Amino acid sequence: MRISSSTRALERDAIDRHADRASVPPAIEVTGIRKRYGDRAVLADVSLLVRPGCLHGLLGPNGAGKTTLMRIMLGLIQPDAGSVHLLGAPSRATTDPLAEGVAGYVDTPAFYPYLSGRRNLSLLARLDDGPAWDRRARVEQALEQVGLSTRADIAVSGYSAGMRQRLGLAAALLRSPRVLLLDEPTSSLDPGAARDVRALVKGLAERGVAVVLSSHDMAEVEELCDELTVINHGQVVYSGGVGELRLRAPAALYVVHTSDDHAAHDLSSRRRGLKVRPSHAEEGGLELAGDTDALDGYTIALGQAGIALRSLERRTRSLESLFLELTGDREPVASAASAAAAPDGEVPSRSLA
Ligand SMILES: Nc1ncnc2c1ncn2[C@@H]1O[C@H](COP(=O)(O)OP(=O)(O)OP(=O)(O)O)[C@@H](O)[C@H]1O
Ligand SMILES: [Mg+2]
Repeated sequence: MRISSSTRALERDAIDRHADRASVPPAIEVTGIRKRYGDRAVLADVSLLVRPGCLHGLLGPNGAGKTTLMRIMLGLIQPDAGSVHLLGAPSRATTDPLAEGVAGYVDTPAFYPYLSGRRNLSLLARLDDGPAWDRRARVEQALEQVGLSTRADIAVSGYSAGMRQRLGLAAALLRSPRVLLLDEPTSSLDPGAARDVRALVKGLAERGVAVVLSSHDMAEVEELCDELTVINHGQVVYSGGVGELRLRAPAALYVVHTSDDHAAHDLSSRRRGLKVRPSHAEEGGLELAGDTDALDGYTIALGQAGIALRSLERRTRSLESLFLELTGDREPVASAASAAAAPDGEVPSRSLA
């Protein structure tokens, strides 16, 4: 697999950042968590470690156990086995208040529906130990940060799901967290609001906050996070850097339609770094796997050979296909092991047999 020099530079930066951080004690340390509901193992030996300033993605399909793990980390439920340390202290019993410096929420956070967003935040600010004199300013700042200032006087019962989600984030920010645990913080947001929340969370991490953020969205985790843990049916199927996962990802898959698919297929057999096979789809076409350089070379060669390119569609992004493979929701496109072993510029044989 060929990786551009800019991608390599980004990955090197990420590795350097991790090396710098490796000497810093973890802000979040989750070890060997097990949880059963009835005879069903919902979490089986889940561990993760997040250092200050690190954005850690928790990724998995519906029912994987993300919210259950978040609940355990927030002390809302007890695990059957394992431990959680936040900011060096063991997680307390579920009846104790959340430790200072820790904030977050699971699912859609709950508020008094008949009170305004501003009033809800004011009440929450009073429950915390922080100084009384700056409460009002902290509430206004939190509302501002999540873009709710102009709608802060509406009763929460009139809030949309996205507005409630933003209010939940504002409530977490009120605590000036050093550990922030967010369960799908962008799931109900429109694209613009989701982008703002991502920028906000990224800014917090840059200021040293350790963040765990759960998501279904590989693209979101890829964009935001330095590290990720992928869980499926309560088991960790990947844990490590986003850059390292990217190195294991299979080449992207494309579908092309040309004026002469037969000739286009023949032409592909002479091109390095590209695998092509006829598509099984009703409308025909060819399936292509290869990196951008190989694809560029191929499309230019098609033109030179007098074969017109009628359409080119990207099927899945490569990390998405790896996620689908890791979580078993789809037939593998290429195994991580074979992708890692493939020589530079070549697509592993399992990707397009
Ligand atoms: N209180 C409960 N009692 C029984 N089973 C539960 C309970 N809470 C969660 N589960 C089960 O545990 C599994 C994991 O649920 P969880 O909510 O943690 O998944 P998730 O990864 O957050 O999913 P989603 O992406 O849909 O939010 C599911 O099968 C769910 O049905
Ligand atoms: Mg969930």
